[in-house]
Amino acid sequence: MTKIKLFTTVLGCFITLVGFAGCKHKEDVSLKDAFKNKFHIGVALNKSQILGEDIKANQNVLSQFNSIVTENCMKSGELQVVEGKFDFTLADKFVDFGLKNNMFLIGHTLIWHSQTPRWFFVDKEGQTVSREVLIERMRTHIYTVVKRYKGKVKGWDVVNEAIEDNGSWRNSKFYQVLGEDFVKLAFQFAHEADPDAELYYNDYSMALEGRRNGVLTLVKSLQKQGVKITGIGMQGHISMDSPSITDFEKSIVAFSELGLKVMITELDLSALPSPWSNMGANISDVVAYQEKMNPYTKGLPVEVETAWENRFLDFFKLFLKHKDKISRVTLWGVSDATSWKNDFPVKGRTDYPLLFDRDNQPKPILKKIIKIANEAGN
Ligand code: GLA
Repeated sequence: MTKIKLFTTVLGCFITLVGFAGCKHKEDVSLKDAFKNKFHIGVALNKSQILGEDIKANQNVLSQFNSIVTENCMKSGELQVVEGKFDFTLADKFVDFGLKNNMFLIGHTLIWHSQTPRWFFVDKEGQTVSREVLIERMRTHIYTVVKRYKGKVKGWDVVNEAIEDNGSWRNSKFYQVLGEDFVKLAFQFAHEADPDAELYYNDYSMALEGRRNGVLTLVKSLQKQGVKITGIGMQGHISMDSPSITDFEKSIVAFSELGLKVMITELDLSALPSPWSNMGANISDVVAYQEKMNPYTKGLPVEVETAWENRFLDFFKLFLKHKDKISRVTLWGVSDATSWKNDFPVKGRTDYPLLFDRDNQPKPILKKIIKIANEAGN
């Protein structure tokens, strides 16, 4: 071998080794490292995770995510079961956990038609309360909760799910008593309680044209009235058939054009057949169990897993394409074992909607998401 040949062979090996090491290093980084200069990557915590009982899940939370939100324990039905008697036990633990681990904390949710205690809307005789009483109850609830975590919880889902698929107002108790004003009031109270907090409107099926337009109208009206709103949360409970990437993208762009941050706040991709063509997240829409709706109790067939993976990757590619508009992507749960999708919209199914399997092992998709995030640059 000539000296030159020997030199180029050694150089070639060196480059391959360095390249491999570099590549391996990149593959080994976590989601939060891969998305560091793009957007927060978050996850919703349930009770046992907040209490530190689900050790494997918590390891994944700490190693992969830099933002957390509570799945349930900050809803009014959990915080204020009886009027005036707040129970912050679990919510405090959640906040302590997040602060200790330097995470971006999200509060979910202040005003929502669901999981709100009945007393909120009625007087002692069981009659619907007046406008004045409901406003005072909203003010007390929002002030008490938001002030307690002032400067700690960085962003609040102030109002959840006020608009219907066709863009009309949801006929909730808040709407019945206060009309459209309830949204404006909720944002005002939250802003008064913590002027520095980010304030969001959050909803599902946001890729539907009707709901997109309804939310655009609502937000424009808030902006016109000088109400502080920082961002829009697109829940992102998606299925294999809906929504289309194109429709989802239209909403990301349209919401961002309002000058607001866009967030994908409750991301999960069901691998199971959906009883409806459009998959929403209206938690009262429950469908009776049928075996044909629960086809993969023993694991996903390879072709289904591949299709699931490709669809999820397509969504992550979309988020990366719009990383200048998106400030956070939050998965709605850590592992398949504890996902709400096992019970919605059909109770008792075996679904596969998240990035960690039932044993809290990372699915192969995790490395693929990290890879496309690294390839997307900063
Ligand atoms: C909606 C709510 C969430 C949660 C999910 C189901 O999307 O915003 O708080 O209740 O439904 O887990």
